[in-house]
This record gives sequence, structure tokens and C-alpha cells, in this order.
Amino acid sequence: MFPQIRLRRLRRRQIRPLLNETRIAKTDLIAPLFFDETAESPIPIASMPGVERYPPEMADKVCKNLASVGIKAVLLFGIPKVKDEAASGAFAPDGVIQQTIKKIRTAVPEMVIITDLCACEYTSHGHCGIIGDCRDGIDLKNDESLALMQKIAVSHVAAGADIIAPSCMLDGMVTAIRSALDENGYEEIPIMSYSSKFSSSLYGPFRDAAGSGYSFGDRTTYQEPVGNRREAIRESELDAAEGADILMVKPAGWFGDIISDVATLGLPVAAYQVSGEYSMIKAAAINGWLDEKRVVMESLISLRRAGADLIITYFAESVCRWIDEEQ
Ligand code: PBG
Ligand code: ZN
Repeated sequence: MFPQIRLRRLRRRQIRPLLNETRIAKTDLIAPLFFDETAESPIPIASMPGVERYPPEMADKVCKNLASVGIKAVLLFGIPKVKDEAASGAFAPDGVIQQTIKKIRTAVPEMVIITDLCACEYTSHGHCGIIGDCRDGIDLKNDESLALMQKIAVSHVAAGADIIAPSCMLDGMVTAIRSALDENGYEEIPIMSYSSKFSSSLYGPFRDAAGSGYSFGDRTTYQEPVGNRREAIRESELDAAEGADILMVKPAGWFGDIISDVATLGLPVAAYQVSGEYSMIKAAAINGWLDEKRVVMESLISLRRAGADLIITYFAESVCRWIDEEQ
């Protein structure tokens, strides 16, 4: 007890940095990117200042630039020219994401290419799979949609993707994708499952960015209720049992309890700091109300402290620059 014990001794200016328990390294970061087949030049996203949709032809330049600051992995989203009921743009051999993957694969061979696997950017109705008559009306049809996810996954890997990240929240999605990859000789490709993905208000700016808003209903029949902690761990447990290689919690900042629960399962955990989290920080920073660098670093440290190994964040490039400044 005091006066023998004084925690401030370890906080003396020279000593404190030696005892830093939680660090952010460039290798922890994954940069999400949007590629838009209809874009001829970068299109700024109004609700996410500093984030743009790029034409697929620019993928080499964008990724070379990221690699030069130290980014090792990217998470790709595509916006197709044409959307339809069957999401056929999602598995077209020359689809927007397939073109983008090939471009990056050649230009920056060492970049880890992770692809978001979902249908919502490719369907005319904006839902994450095939819809049809269900018990309570028109809704996402689970098993029909699994077959679609299998096709998309195989086409991403055939184009050169390194890791597949399914975000559709269908039951059995990991089993289905794992077996499709294995049947095609892609047993070395890991699955990073959006395993505990909540039905959150924080995806609003993303839906502008990816043009993936839905035309009716909502995503509450497939994404998790934000208050359900037990159900969230159950979702991740099941995905682990189905053979997921990396689990994910999304959104990140308000879900530290879920990240720490999921980390107990023993698989690597990724936390996705989503569009709304980015926009909130950015808006306050632009207004001069918060110090951007300090808030971002604090937010990411909180995710690592909760148990995340990997962090998906729209601030990834800025963070690399800030890390360089410290050295
Ligand atoms: C697609 C998907 C979404 C996000 C990632 N993949 C949107 C959604 O589920 O509606 C959100 C990412 C973000 O908000 O940054 N299923
Ligand atoms: Zn989706």
C-alpha cells in the first residue's frame, strides 16, 4: 500500500514507454478499397472524406502507393456496371473485382489480396444473396444463396485472391465456401469469416460508398442484434467449427466485449472499424473538435487491447504515415 507502492514510478517520462503493453504495427492493418466499374477517375465519397472509389484500371497505382507506406493487405469491394437479381457481376470472369485482383496481382505480387464475398453490391435489390418467398414474406433464401457464394468464392480465387472474406451472414456459409474451394484445388486459401457481424447503424456511409443500400426491408433477418452477446460468440464458434481460419467482429469500437469473447476461441481475430466509425472521427477532426491522429491511434489500441490481431480500417494509410513519424 501507499506510500511503499506508487504506480506513478513507472510513469516517469523515460520509463513509461518501456512498459507499453499494446502496440500497433503496420502488419496488423488491412486497408479496405472500393473499385467502381463505372468510374473513369476517382470519385470522392461524400460521407467518408478522404475515401474514394477508384476505377479498376487504377488498382495497380493505388496498391503500389499503399505498399510503399508499408500496407501488407487490402480488402476489396467492387461496384459493378450492371446489377441483377442473380448478382451475376459478382462471379463474372471479367467482373469488376476479378479485373481488379488481376491488376494488383501483377503490379504488386506481394500484396495480400483479401476479397469481401457478398452479393449486395451486385444485386438489383441490394440484399446479400438470392431473395424469394419465405415464411414472413420476401427474404434472403439461405441455401440458394450459399450456392451463389460458392461460385463467387471460386471466381475470386481463380482471379488471384489470397484470402476470401464472406460477409453475407448466411447459415453454413463457411462450410459451403470451404468445400467449394477444396473441390477446386484451392485448399490453401484461408477463409476470414465475418463471423460476428451485427446489424448496425454504423454501415450507413459504406452503403453510399459501395452503392449497396437495399430497396426494401433491412438486414435484420441475417445480421445479428447488437445487444446479443451470447449469440455473437455462438456465431463465431460455429464458423470456427465449420473451418474458418480467421474470425471477425464487425463493427469494432462499440464491440470490445465481443472481440474479447471471440479471442478466447483460439483463432486469429480481425476487428473491422467500419465506415460509420471512420466518418464520426473524421467529421470531428475536420471541425477541429478532436485530434485525428490521437483519436485514431487510441481507437485502434483499444481493439488490440480487447484481443484483435488484425484491424481493418479506412485509416490504414494514415496510420502507416503516423508510425513513420514516430520513428
Ligand atoms: C457487405 C458489407 C457491408 C460492410 C462490409 N461488407 C455492408 C452491410 O453489411 O450492409 C460494411 C463495411 C463498413 O461499413 O465499413 N455485406
Ligand atoms: Zn452484403
